[in-house]
Amino acid sequence: MTRNLDVSRDLYATAQRFIAGGVSSDARRTAGVPLYVDRAAGARIWDVDGNVYLDYVLGQGPALLGHCPAPVAEAVAAQVARGIVYSAQHAAEVRVAERVCAMVPSAERVRFNTVGSEAVHAALRLARGYTERSKILKFEGHYHGWLDPVLYSVHPAVDLAGPAAAPVAVPGTAGQQHGHSDDLIICPWNDLEALTRLMDRHAGQIAAVITEPVLCNTGAIEPDPGYLRAVRELCDRHGTLLIFDEIITGFRLAPGGAQEYLGITPDLSIFGKAMAGGMPVSALAGKAAVMDHISAGKVAHAGTFNSQPVGIAAAEATLRILDEQREEVYGTLFARGEALMDGLRAAADKAGVPMLVAGPGPVFQTYFTDARAVRDYRDFAATDRAMMTRLHAALLERGVNMVPRGLWFMSTEHTEADIAATVDAFTDALGTL
Ligand SMILES: Cc1ncc(COP(=O)(O)O)c(C=O)c1O
Repeated sequence: MTRNLDVSRDLYATAQRFIAGGVSSDARRTAGVPLYVDRAAGARIWDVDGNVYLDYVLGQGPALLGHCPAPVAEAVAAQVARGIVYSAQHAAEVRVAERVCAMVPSAERVRFNTVGSEAVHAALRLARGYTERSKILKFEGHYHGWLDPVLYSVHPAVDLAGPAAAPVAVPGTAGQQHGHSDDLIICPWNDLEALTRLMDRHAGQIAAVITEPVLCNTGAIEPDPGYLRAVRELCDRHGTLLIFDEIITGFRLAPGGAQEYLGITPDLSIFGKAMAGGMPVSALAGKAAVMDHISAGKVAHAGTFNSQPVGIAAAEATLRILDEQREEVYGTLFARGEALMDGLRAAADKAGVPMLVAGPGPVFQTYFTDARAVRDYRDFAATDRAMMTRLHAALLERGVNMVPRGLWFMSTEHTEADIAATVDAFTDALGTL
């Protein structure tokens, strides 16, 4: 089975002459020809060669309501006719901020940005400005965007990463500004003992602990029962802010994000991806006492495109659906996610392939491993990632697009028939590995 990729191949050849590395984001690098998408609708994308894929990448997560949901597309078109950029205040941003504050448990104030990395940057600056402390504690395997201060120890080579209980900060790229790691403490996730030890050692110096509340950039790992509650308590004891990076989990696991799903309230949270149905809108949200350090002009926060009206129109249409149709939206996301997870698990069992399928459902991970659980980066690193890359390629050949590292995003547009077709393709793909 080989897809015809003639047009894609030609485009890629030209792209390599004009686009550095041939792709516009490192996340899109693949072993072969990258996907050249012609159009996307619902749970499907079509490439420029006419191949159709059931899509579980969903733009790396944003298309929670499927690609191009009509109410969002209509809101975008209507706003485009009224102006694409204002770089000024407008009514819709006030409505969206009000809705975010109503939906998200910890949100009393909001500031908009364009992409997640920027909003993370704003959160860390605000935490440092508010606490007048310099250090940030980050967990190994967690991704908080591609900017220098946090691009450490995301997927480090294990032989460079130090002992599992006391990892060292491993830079993510050449060209990264030296010195950021002096202010960064790297901690294993789901390890309360290690966190307690590090917070005691750096008492009075840590401005914030930042975490993905459900780790989705290294598998799809839920916190151990009680873990994040204990993290919350430790932060309170040390006068350290707790930041949830909800770029993936926000509006995906519940209308109020992972903080609602898990029942833990952070001081600050960061949203993006799913909040605007695919338009680039991100937000920093949090408690008024902290956020008002921005309003008071103590902590700088700016951006030409902040609350850009087309993106905000998309956010308004998206959040209205997520809020007002919450039972249906989240009921569907969880039900379809669980059905697909069950189907993949059963197919792997039947084929005798050791595979773990885990995660909340609206996002989940397949791992090639004998282990019964994956709890942190080191567990993830021990799974067979090369085989996952081969599965990704085999699935693409069969019209299924998952995130190459084995992550699956669900949308409300995936039907039961789509799930059945995906399980068939998966069964067939497994047979070839
Ligand atoms: C948890 C998390 N934080 C931050 C980011 C960075 O967001 P962006 O790519 O929009 O800059 C991502 C991107 O995938 C993410 O998953």
